[in-house]
Formats: sequence, C-alpha cells, structure tokens
Amino acid sequence: MFGRVKSLDAILATAEKKSLHRSLGAFQLTMLGVGAVIGTGIFVLTAEAAQKAGPGMMLSFVIAGFVCAVAALCYAEMASMVPVSGSAYTYSYAVMGELIAWMVGWALILEYAIAAGAVSVGWSGYMVGFIQNSFHITVPLEFVRGPFDGGIINLPAMAISGIITVLLVLGTKESATVNAVLVAIKIGALSLFVALTIPVIRSGQFTPFAPLGFSGISGAAASIFFAYVGFDAVSTAAEETTNPQRNMPIGLIGSLAICTVFYMLVAAGVIGTVGAQPVFGAGHVALDPGTPELSRACSLIHDNAVVCSKEALAWTLREVGYPFVGWLVGAAAILALPSVILMMMFGQTRIFFVMSRDGLLPEFFSKVHPKFHTPHVITVLTGLFVALFSAFFPVGLLADVSNSGTLFAFAAVSIAVLVLRRTDPSRRRPFRTPAVWVIAPISILGCLYLFISLSQATMMLFVGWAAAGLVVYYGYSRNRSHVGRGLVELHEGDSDVPPSSVPPIA
Ligand code: ALA
Repeated sequence: MFGRVKSLDAILATAEKKSLHRSLGAFQLTMLGVGAVIGTGIFVLTAEAAQKAGPGMMLSFVIAGFVCAVAALCYAEMASMVPVSGSAYTYSYAVMGELIAWMVGWALILEYAIAAGAVSVGWSGYMVGFIQNSFHITVPLEFVRGPFDGGIINLPAMAISGIITVLLVLGTKESATVNAVLVAIKIGALSLFVALTIPVIRSGQFTPFAPLGFSGISGAAASIFFAYVGFDAVSTAAEETTNPQRNMPIGLIGSLAICTVFYMLVAAGVIGTVGAQPVFGAGHVALDPGTPELSRACSLIHDNAVVCSKEALAWTLREVGYPFVGWLVGAAAILALPSVILMMMFGQTRIFFVMSRDGLLPEFFSKVHPKFHTPHVITVLTGLFVALFSAFFPVGLLADVSNSGTLFAFAAVSIAVLVLRRTDPSRRRPFRTPAVWVIAPISILGCLYLFISLSQATMMLFVGWAAAGLVVYYGYSRNRSHVGRGLVELHEGDSDVPPSSVPPIA
C-alpha cells in the first residue's frame, strides 16, 4: 500500500534545476502569507463564529491559531527540506507513498477550490452591503444569497469567480507589488477597525462568555480555522525562494503570528462594542449559521445583530457610529478579497498540474492555451465548479468543507515529518521542528480535534469525497501513475509552466 514512493532525491533534483529563478526573500514570503491568509475568515466568518460560540469565539481564534502554529512548524521542516511545488501532496508522495499522496491531493481540491467558493460568497456579502449603503438602494436578496441563506442564487459570487477565472486564463499572476499594496490595504483596514473599536469596549459585553458551552467554542474554532488557511501558500513558493532554509520558516510562522494578533484584536473589538451573543430560535434553540432558520430569526429582529450580518466588520463600524470608516473597510474587503480567490484558484490549478504531471490525472488537464500559455482547460473547469459552489452554498458550509480537506492535509504533513525523521534521519534538515516528537503529535491531534468539531454534515461530505477519491484512484490513476510505471522525471519548470516546455526526462 505504501510501496509507491517518489524518490526524495529525484524531487530535490527538480528543485536544483529551479535555482536560477529564486527571487523571494523572507519579507516577501511573509507578505505572501499575509496576503493569502487574511480574507473572508476575519471579514465575514467572525459573525458565524459568534453565532456558534458567542464571546467565547476569542478562545476559538486562539485554539485555531494554535493548531495552525504547530502545523506550520511541521510544514516548515518539510518545506525547507523539500522546497518544491505541490506542497502537502509532494511531501506525502516522497514519504508515505502514492496512495496517501493521492488522498492528500484529493483533499487539497477541497482546500483550494471550495475555499475559493467561500471567499467569493464572502466578497458578495461585502459588495452587496457596499452598494446598499453607498447608493441607498435595496438589492433583492433572492439574487445575492444562496438557497440556504434565504435567497435563490448568489449572482455576485458567481460573477467574481468568473472574473477571476478569466484573469487566470489570461495568465494573471499577482505581482509582488500588487500583493504588497493589497496586504497594506487589508492591514490598514483591520488596524483602523481595531483603533476605533478597542477604546470603546465595554466589559459587560463579554458575558455570558460561552452561551453554548465549550462545544460551541470548539465548533467555532473548527470553522474559524478557515481564517488561517493559506499560510501553506508560502510553502508552495519554496522553489522561488532565496535561501529557503532560512526564509521559509520565517515566512510561514511570521505570517501566522501577524494574522493571529490581528484576529484576536478584531474579535475583541466586535465583541466589546456590538456584542456577540448568538441569535436563538423559538424555545431558546441555538440556530446554525447559514440556515434558513437563522435567516428567518434574523429578519424578525431586522438583522440587528452582528451574527446576522454578511459584512460583520463594516456593520460593526456603522453601529459604533463610524459609517464612513465602515464604508472604507467594506471597500478594502471588496478590493482585497479577490486576490485571495485568485491565490486559491491558482493553487488549485497548480496542484492539478503537478498531479497530472505525475500521471495521476488526465493529461488534458494540463493542456496549455496556445496564446496565453496557461493551463486553460483546468482553470475553466475549476472556475465552473467554484462558481457553482458559490452560487448555491452558504459561506460557512463552504469554509467548513474546505477546512476538512485542509485539516487532513495538515495532519498528513505532520505525520510525514515524523516518518521521515525515522526513515531518513541523516538527511539535512535546514529547519528542524523543535521538540518534533511533541509538536507533531500535538499537530496531528489538534487537526483531529478540529475535524471532529466540524458539523456532522461536513464530516459526512468529507467521507463521501474521500470515498470518491479512492474510486478514482483505483479506477483510473493507479494504472497511469508515472511512478507506478517506473518513470523518474525531472522538470525544469515550475508546475505552472506549460508542459510543452517541460518534457519529462525518463
Ligand atoms: N484564510 C483565507 C480567508 O480567510 C482563506 O479568506
């Protein structure tokens, strides 16, 4: 079962070939991480976390951040030791064999494609709020929310995923400059939020602290984990990094640290000003976010609670008496969230690309457009799915499903680190996870804990997805695998380079 292992030396030889193109330093990597991480999680899901945990969501942010930090320490060892494309998929291929790698790659589809859908829905919430507040018009809810959220179809979310797809087909890559500007916009917006809300916090708003008990806090942690997803995008840039041995760990852990501090402050700002108590249904029943029941309960109170808002931070600022700053923060989200969608969809096409290069997915997936030199087939296919998810599903469900895939991948990387310490102890490890026999097991258990704190429906969806993955593997991929057929490949280009220019050297 674990027999088909890709040789680590072959993978590293690929990385050697890349050494000419290295240009990213520690600072740029950290910015790349912050750019990929800050998004719908903090701007939108704060409301969902409040509905699940109340003020206890502060603790949820800490728990989710902690699990990400220990996972990041494991990622950092793998990323600095195996600085190549494909992230968790590639690491698993080298350490635990093809089947596990396939399952990780399959789970990464959830992480990236579904996350892109979630961020599109989050963007839509801010766009609609922005239009309503700027022009004082009422946008018909039917066309800006999915069926679970009291609407029919989320057209703005579909539109933004369509636009991003077109940009990706045209070959748009976020330049370091654009990323830096967008990071500045996001950090600026969150800083403004913190500066205006923290001074007017009222301590009474923090009680009752955990209206739905610790299970509510765990559930919110499992959802808000989404807010940290994306730091692994840093590891996918390993092939373009100068001195990856030093810079990768700084980029991974640095971006996570910056985000955690901001998230804690923003959560405190929301709770302490407008309060973050859940909205209950008849008979004091806790209502799940993203359900028609919660939509109805919210309309009874004219959406007058942060948990009802689709643009939690802008709403909070308006309530606190800063409508113009609320408008600014909304504008910042509208400008900055598309880059998160772009990175997620780009990450998705990259994973597909590596998997198809390994023979596990059809070759036509990596077909390249003659003019734009982008893998247009897989990009359009990805875009179609993202648009469909975002049209019909609520942001919280999409985020949770994405989290299930991410947690699986993180756990796999943490296991891979331990396995490699045993099987290949003498290989050079530029970054060693400190106290690895403590940190990695904590990371594995933390991922497991967050996974089982997800809703039942999410776990079932994940199991169904994994089962489908096994069917595809045994029905298609296993017989076509290049490793299985004994082909050892070196690639001169990165995974996003047209395959026509990277002939495999068998
Ligand atoms: N962490 C990213 C976000 O919050 C995916 O949108």
